[in-house]
Amino acid sequence: AKPTSPDVTQCGLASVEDKGKSMTLDCCPPKPSQFVDFKLPKSYGHNLKIRPAAHLVDKTYIEKYNKALSLMKALPDSDPRSFAQQAKVHCAYCNGGYHQAGLPDLDFQVHGSWLFFPFHRAYLYFYERILGSLINDPTFAIPYWNWDHPDGMVMPTFFNDQNSPFFDVNRDQNHLPPTVMDHTYDGPAKEHHMPYDEQIKQNLTIMYKAMVANAKTPEMFLGAPYRQGDPPGTQPGSLEVQPHGTIHNWVGNPKPNTPFWEDMGNFYSAGRDPIFYAHHANVDRTWSIWKTLSPKNKDFKDKDFLNSYFYFFDENAQPVRISVRDCLSSRKMGYDYQPMDLPWLRSRP
Ligand code: C2O
Repeated sequence: AKPTSPDVTQCGLASVEDKGKSMTLDCCPPKPSQFVDFKLPKSYGHNLKIRPAAHLVDKTYIEKYNKALSLMKALPDSDPRSFAQQAKVHCAYCNGGYHQAGLPDLDFQVHGSWLFFPFHRAYLYFYERILGSLINDPTFAIPYWNWDHPDGMVMPTFFNDQNSPFFDVNRDQNHLPPTVMDHTYDGPAKEHHMPYDEQIKQNLTIMYKAMVANAKTPEMFLGAPYRQGDPPGTQPGSLEVQPHGTIHNWVGNPKPNTPFWEDMGNFYSAGRDPIFYAHHANVDRTWSIWKTLSPKNKDFKDKDFLNSYFYFFDENAQPVRISVRDCLSSRKMGYDYQPMDLPWLRSRP
């Protein structure tokens, strides 16, 4: 077997399907011609960037992120560092824009397999570096949406400020703060409306299952192997399904003018909502936490896992090829997370 990677020289139309409706669109980022290979910083542990919990950040931090994101949104759409292009990355990698290198008939897909965590880690890594460079602050770290803690189970309020770059009109208006999220959310028809305490308790139980009970092997947590020739992502890990996927749908807008559950409820549009990057920062954080919970919780040693790679544009608009082997430790990459209590550890069903 061989690792699988996208053929970025042949990006094609992406397709979006949902409940009988479908459309195609062009979401190809610029073609990376002269790419360089990513290199981890030589030393690490000093000057780690610390990603803060979004519900705890202060005004100064929000202003800084506001400035950085405004500058990113002000870049011309053709600039690979622009917000428009950052959003397209998710579409190209998730809706069949790219095909597997060497297998032009087979879509490349970063969901539903062991590529899920490393792809999104690398994606956020470059997003964060671009923001930092736009405000000349290489220490800038994006916030994480702490939805595994009762205090973080609502949309972080600053994302709901209409006059800020964090705002996105395509969100479910019934789920704005202070509505508490439902980690089992399955669409408006099955809305639960539970009392607060019950909802929190249920969410913590879902977290326990995603992180512990249903996450006892690398395959159960990270997702199944995905190699050259395999059909696109058929076996997601525990957390990818719930609550990662359910929170996507909970944020997206299931209304007629957003037929594909835009923005967060569809792969092609999820990256258009700035809350996406806070959501995924917490997904990324759970990967690091999972590895501390048991000596058995380890990354795959499989070469096909380690040698899979993706392409991103860095803060200098330089295309970079990054392999999974370089995405295994956030600390080696230069960042970590503000520690928070993990109440779900005590929430065994
Ligand atoms: Cu690429 Cu949250 O999905």
